[in-house]
Amino acid sequence: MTGEVDPSRRGFLKTVIGLSAVAAVGGLGKGVVQNLITPSVGLTNFPETLLYWNDPSTPNSPPVPLKASQFEVESPSVWIFYYPLSDEPNFIIRFSDGVPPSSVTIDATGANYSFTGGVGPNNSIVSYSAICQHLGCIPPIIHYYPPSQISQLPVNVTAAITANKITHGVIHCNCHGSTYDPFKGAGIVTHPTQRPLPFVTLKYDSLTDTLYAKKLTGPVVFGHPSDLTGGHAIPNLSKTTVTKLAS
Ligand code: FES
Repeated sequence: MTGEVDPSRRGFLKTVIGLSAVAAVGGLGKGVVQNLITPSVGLTNFPETLLYWNDPSTPNSPPVPLKASQFEVESPSVWIFYYPLSDEPNFIIRFSDGVPPSSVTIDATGANYSFTGGVGPNNSIVSYSAICQHLGCIPPIIHYYPPSQISQLPVNVTAAITANKITHGVIHCNCHGSTYDPFKGAGIVTHPTQRPLPFVTLKYDSLTDTLYAKKLTGPVVFGHPSDLTGGHAIPNLSKTTVTKLAS
């Protein structure tokens, strides 16, 4: 059963207030502080949540279940959905190739965990937390750069992309330059982040061509005491809407 909880978070809030002050002094932007000041509520477990969207072919109609095979490949737009909390945005990206499982390293600890790879048509669809694991910047400051946009990135990032033989684009945060490889579990490409982006486990229903979010795995989402706490549950736990933020 899924239910809301209200755990004691005094120590966490002291950390949040301290980090918020640092962010404010450093001029890091509204997005950082928004994600640090989180309410003391949450969920007891991960819901299984169907992804909806406003079908681009019928833009004035209500949201309908997203059809995985219709989702744009390596889209230059920023596509996100909130799950499982209303202050936890997540990217969804469809690649031109299948995404294999991989091992991901947390530089902060040296620990590794397993990324389960893509799902959907040709195992090409992945999803990651869209909150930067350095200091919490959110989209569109952090977003996916497909191969067609790599030339927009700083020289040190393009050099790292070349050195790591990355051919499917990167997730890059313009706050301080952290870069993640979404084809390999959102592992770290450039610092200052010391932690990869957590990934969302997706389930694909091939009969209906639809996708479900099932849980988050990896480092705890930045600014949250756990992936399930530090915010309010999304309004309807059975569905969440995938939204295009910007081109
Ligand atoms: S918040 Fe610092 S690089 Fe993203």
